[in-house]
Amino acid sequence: MSHAENDEGTRRDFLFYATAGTGLVVGGAAVWPLVNQMNPSADVQALSSIQVDVSEVAVGTQLTVKWLGKPVFIRRRTEEEILAGREVEISDLIDPLAENANIAAGDPATDENRTLDEAGEWLVMMGVCTHLGCVPLGDGAGDYGGWFCPCHGSHYDTAGRIRRGPAPRNLPVPVAAFVDETTIQLG
Ligand code: FES
Repeated sequence: MSHAENDEGTRRDFLFYATAGTGLVVGGAAVWPLVNQMNPSADVQALSSIQVDVSEVAVGTQLTVKWLGKPVFIRRRTEEEILAGREVEISDLIDPLAENANIAAGDPATDENRTLDEAGEWLVMMGVCTHLGCVPLGDGAGDYGGWFCPCHGSHYDTAGRIRRGPAPRNLPVPVAAFVDETTIQLG
């Protein structure tokens, strides 16, 4: 099978599962072609540490890059998203842990502990559902205004925290930091 045929097939599979919302587990490979389309610099995927230019990322949009073979969501949150994230009580969360590689392992999943900057504008996290590994949909998707995984119906809030559905954990925040005002380093 040629590469093109393979892409075509997997894309069709993904659309089917996304529509069905249930059934077979969709492996990571089924969704990578979609991610590839969004990522012009696939050649950087093999590097353990990459730098991402975020100067073009407008408020209320998300950049998806591929890092270590997986999608990473870099979202520049709106004021509303920040406020929504900050008014959530830890006791309302399915996963009360920050799941943030940049802070202590047991730290709570406050909105502040999820974001890269103090203002809470920048949210960087692995775009891999913690249930079975699908890539969640973004741009305010789901019942909590953040991300929604159509594979089995997991809803994540504006801080990427799991709020409803079978996923057990918040979307993990990888090692990440601003190296200058418009550049984020992953790893
Ligand atoms: S992989 Fe099952 S809900 Fe996301």
